Amino acid sequence: MDVLQALKERRSINFFETGKELPDEKISELLELANFAPSSFDLQPWRVVVVKDPERKKALRKCAFDQPKAEEASAVLIMIADPKGVEENVGWVLDSWQELGYIKPEDRETYAGMTRSLYGTEDSLIRKFFAVKNTALYAMNIMLAAKGFGLETHPMDGFDEACIKKEFHIPEDKIIPMLIAVGWLRSGITLLPRAFRRNVNEFVKFNTF
Ligand SMILES: Cc1cc2nc3c(=O)[nH]c(=O)nc-3n(C[C@H](O)[C@H](O)[C@H](O)COP(=O)(O)O)c2cc1C
Repeated sequence: MDVLQALKERRSINFFETGKELPDEKISELLELANFAPSSFDLQPWRVVVVKDPERKKALRKCAFDQPKAEEASAVLIMIADPKGVEENVGWVLDSWQELGYIKPEDRETYAGMTRSLYGTEDSLIRKFFAVKNTALYAMNIMLAAKGFGLETHPMDGFDEACIKKEFHIPEDKIIPMLIAVGWLRSGITLLPRAFRRNVNEFVKFNTF
């Protein structure tokens, strides 16, 4: 499937085929492919908890205001934005840049300083935006890549974040921008036509706001 077709055909589906196993290897392949997503300074401040176990999905459903898809999909990805992604990842990002010839060894400190000044302190709002915007790009890549694998998805932010953190032992400083249900459309279900989209002329201006 080409990218334009994936964009046109991706839908948030509500009815997943239940009891259908999505192999771990397939999920890893999907997450690896989506990992080509761009990120600020290549810092990739995301983590994912893959929930497949039926009992754990039941718990997730409870945290997700009883949305059936949180339990019925073959897997549900808890997308986690990590504000500490700057400190944790800057070292190996600069190592790789150096190795690949993007930067010289003497430039390392300048680049490390840029990440500190651009993305604020660990608990600042700007740092939270940094983590969430990059994780959202990764999430979108996952949903598009899933189409390429013949899978369907549904992003969700209808959940109690504290409940998910408690159930899945996710540290307090992390942010959960969304869950992504992944699986197959239940047989016999026909999707309604795609929902309304605004006309781009309403929100696009050239050269000035
Ligand atoms: C970040 C995000 C959170 C969402 N949360 C929910 C949700 O909790 N429950 C739900 O039924 N749909 C949720 N949706 C799905 C949207 O309603 C859906 O994307 C929108 O209606 C457009 O439909 P489409 O994705 O099929 O094009 C969410 C979508 C996004 C992007």
